[in-house]
Amino acid sequence: MTGNAPAVRPARPFFSSGPCAKRPGWTPDALAGALLGRSHRSKPGKARLKEAIDRTKALLGIPAEYRVGIVPASDTGAMEMAMWSLLGPRTVDCFAWESFGEDWVTDTVKQLKLKDSRVFKAAYGEIPNLAEADPKHDVVFLWNGTTSGVRVPNGEWIADGREGLTICDATSAVFAMDIPWMKLDVATFSWQKVLGGEAAHGMLILSPRAVARLESHTPPWPMPKIFRMTKVGKIVEGLFEGETINTPSMLAVEDYLDALKWAEQIGGLKALIARSNANLAVLARWVKECGWADFLAKDAAIRSNTSVCLKIVDPWFLALAPEAQAEAAKKIASTLEKEGVAFDVAAYRAAPPGLRIWCGATVDHADVEALTHWLDWAWAKVKSS
Ligand SMILES: Cc1ncc(COP(=O)(O)O)c(C=O)c1O
Repeated sequence: MTGNAPAVRPARPFFSSGPCAKRPGWTPDALAGALLGRSHRSKPGKARLKEAIDRTKALLGIPAEYRVGIVPASDTGAMEMAMWSLLGPRTVDCFAWESFGEDWVTDTVKQLKLKDSRVFKAAYGEIPNLAEADPKHDVVFLWNGTTSGVRVPNGEWIADGREGLTICDATSAVFAMDIPWMKLDVATFSWQKVLGGEAAHGMLILSPRAVARLESHTPPWPMPKIFRMTKVGKIVEGLFEGETINTPSMLAVEDYLDALKWAEQIGGLKALIARSNANLAVLARWVKECGWADFLAKDAAIRSNTSVCLKIVDPWFLALAPEAQAEAAKKIASTLEKEGVAFDVAAYRAAPPGLRIWCGATVDHADVEALTHWLDWAWAKVKSS
């Protein structure tokens, strides 16, 4: 038997982990002032790109001596640009606990062929022992594992006096979590995550020590133009002032600026983090009571407040064969989607069967609250069928 459909529907049923929900109140009118049909190298074009960099730095509290650049190919572009440019001189310690972390292991070990790399892995829902990071080595890791809902608890495991560089894919964390910038030599993110901007470009954040590595180390492998950040052994400063390597979308730039201004208006980084935390709290309350779902990340200290991953713990479900479990979990997501109350909430294909609900700052907590009732409704429907 299934109960009646809940009375309240999420006003914005957008819970995708990327591209994420647009900011509350967004309409295409936000883009009306975009610098379209103009060169990104014109004076106003460069000014918009510089504004995006400056507002990012201010909002995130990135140290003045760090450089922030807009680069091609989204977060992946920013990460690979950094890895191809910086890795090689030192042993690399890779930490991976879900599929995006695995991608950077593949880049390090199979593509760059850095044979003496050390790889520390953990299963979905867990995190490797971060204390294994050697301060003499370069370290590659994610701040938040989008496909398992597991984040690093803090940056305390990173030595202040390290000799190696810390290279962090922080795309699902920036604007939702406190990031201790001084612990990171490279951080990357994309516009479509926590601020719900249009996807296109990556943000690359470099510490002075990362710049020193760029200027002192020449990679032994070929470097395509879109990865090149130095010219005759010197950093190309223009790249960090809005002179992009190749042509950016000024429409996407405008949308990112709109998102940044919204973030400033609601109270800046603190308010953004509070919104994500409030969304997670709604799910935490519901998980305690629902009786059929639990967090994939058991330990609350490593639980994401953006990509919240849930597993199903109901005895009937657990008694199903693995394929039937996967099918049942997918059916919950498709039932919600068909009803138009939650889009894109199926767990990532390589993750254990379950659900993934984006709780980043652009999601309203009333919508998460409304969603919890629909989760129970869809679960009852799937179980009874
Ligand atoms: C942690 C992480 N890294 C990398 C990516 C890939 O990002 P992009 O599509 O912006 O290159 C994603 C996308 O979801 C992600 O969550």
